[in-house]
Amino acid sequence: MFDASVPNLSELAVTIDDGCLKIPLQGKGTKYKIQLSVEKVTDDEETRPPSDHLAAAVSSPSVQRARFSNHVSLKSILCRPDGGAGLAGQRVRIFGWVRTGRLQGKGSFAFLEVNDGSCPAYLQVMVDASLTDLSKLIAKGTCVVVDGCLKLPPQGTKQKIELKVEEVVAVGTVDQVTYPFPKNKPSLEHLRKFLHLRARTNLMASVARIRNALAFATHSFFQSQSFLYVQTPIITTSDCEGAGEMFQVTTLISSTEKLERDLIENPPPTEADVEAARLVVKERGEAVAQLKASKEASKETITASVAELNDAKLSLSRTVEISRLKPGLPKKDGETDYSQDFFGRQAFLSVSGQLQLESYACALGSVYTFGPTFRAENSHTSRHLAEFWMVEPELALADLEEDMDCAEAYVRHMCTWLLDNCYDDLEVMAENVDYGCIDRLKLVASTPFVRITYTDAIELLKKAMAQRQKFENQVEWGIDLASEHERYLTEIVFQKPVIVYNYPKGIKAFYMRVNDDGKTVAAMDVLVPKVGELIGGSQREERYAVLMNRLEEMGLPVEPYEWYLDLRRHGTVKHSGFGLGFERMVLFATGMENIRDVIPFPRYPGRADL
Ligand code: 4AD
Ligand code: MG
Repeated sequence: MFDASVPNLSELAVTIDDGCLKIPLQGKGTKYKIQLSVEKVTDDEETRPPSDHLAAAVSSPSVQRARFSNHVSLKSILCRPDGGAGLAGQRVRIFGWVRTGRLQGKGSFAFLEVNDGSCPAYLQVMVDASLTDLSKLIAKGTCVVVDGCLKLPPQGTKQKIELKVEEVVAVGTVDQVTYPFPKNKPSLEHLRKFLHLRARTNLMASVARIRNALAFATHSFFQSQSFLYVQTPIITTSDCEGAGEMFQVTTLISSTEKLERDLIENPPPTEADVEAARLVVKERGEAVAQLKASKEASKETITASVAELNDAKLSLSRTVEISRLKPGLPKKDGETDYSQDFFGRQAFLSVSGQLQLESYACALGSVYTFGPTFRAENSHTSRHLAEFWMVEPELALADLEEDMDCAEAYVRHMCTWLLDNCYDDLEVMAENVDYGCIDRLKLVASTPFVRITYTDAIELLKKAMAQRQKFENQVEWGIDLASEHERYLTEIVFQKPVIVYNYPKGIKAFYMRVNDDGKTVAAMDVLVPKVGELIGGSQREERYAVLMNRLEEMGLPVEPYEWYLDLRRHGTVKHSGFGLGFERMVLFATGMENIRDVIPFPRYPGRADL
């Protein structure tokens, strides 16, 4: 409830800083149970998001049959605090793929180490030769479904529980000649040639489970803070970053190729064919005219003749149309004619859902999207993919500082979540890939991030150069920080995550809010050890006139952004957001070296397998 001292209430986005909740006067038409009597309206006071609310820890492990598939998962046996020992004597059906298999007792029984993908641990399974042909079971990669009884292994063995098989229910054998990973620890490069099978390896399975946990932690973090999950389009006609690195979505090429094949099979009519068709029309026209002029022609005869004339006209127009078909893309004024394309205009795969997300933030408050994004950069680095996943929150009413608070809380939530829920997989990573990955997660979960301005970051880098630090890329105010600079700041100078903010406007996108100095924009990048840039974000330019200026200054056409300008024309509000490269977060968490190994099916220049 406002009184008249608040000006221009219509079409105004307001920030209410102070007010008093009151019970409204009850009467006809009063549908509200409570109302706010406004005492102060400004837009410069800080409003803090509610404090971190960590999702509840996973429920305590106990053996339970999977609900939709008749088996007991190995996780529910082996991940109990007692390693499964308390389940001795229970009958279970388990399944899994054999990691190692060996015949014992002169072939009278076999020991199999079986893993079903639910956790990194293996169950030791003992099968008697009286039950099946053991030679079919022991090859690495074989799938077994078995019923049996859990029992305590002999004293002194490392297992806490093992399974004595009573029935072999099913076996999926392996073709040992062609199975690509017969030995332990195939190289990551070798695994990349078999994307459809690499999740069977311990390392890739751990990466997949950590990735899953990070996705869960993402949704739990934003949902617990009441952000709405919004699905932004994958096919778009807007270029968010304005960098022109977009994949085009078109059916013009395939339809042109089809036309060219058709034209070879059915050559188009020649000029002479068109002339002949024209002659037929002319003759039939004359015939109709003659019949109409003669008094003797019956009505039926005239009607039949007119019908013949219409057929001839139709045939002529088809002949003319087909004769105009030409091989190659359709052209108009020398340019490709996209009005003939599937969407009637040029369309692309999205490089970011941000612009569309802003329209929802400016209607619903705090929102986020989590989806695939696509960039046609010809980057062959270990940090770039052509198809990657991005988590993008957008916060109405938040300024850059609150945006940084949100980014920091989100990253720290993910680290805590992994430590609480994925410790066994993290141990696999620490043992096989990067012994420091657990300590890094602990550090990030428990330490506030450093925040420095871009200008200070440049000063630090210059100082480092003066002390003989070498960089391949030059350092001066105005440059875009290169990966080597970012990693130097986060790994050497601060040894923890660093947020660099207030970048020169010349190197940042048009939508970032111009600071009062007129030289910098309210942008921020979160840099983390091992990875460099993990997050890019900014406060958005909410002032119509300034945004218009920026578009013009950067030489961008205004027409495609008219809808985006509308968000400023009507009910504009301060807002901010960021994008976290999801694979970079997986890299950071797992310590893996190459981004191609932390997404199930990597796409990069020259490769899009499966
Ligand atoms: O910094 P970027 O380009 O920011 C945006 O796209 C903004 N529109 C996001 C927003 O404000 N809503 O990309 C965000 C993050 C980067 O920090 C990086 O982690 C990741 O996306 N990223 C890539 N990850 C893998 N491969 C690539 N080619 C990537 N390009 C960016
Ligand atoms: Mg960036």
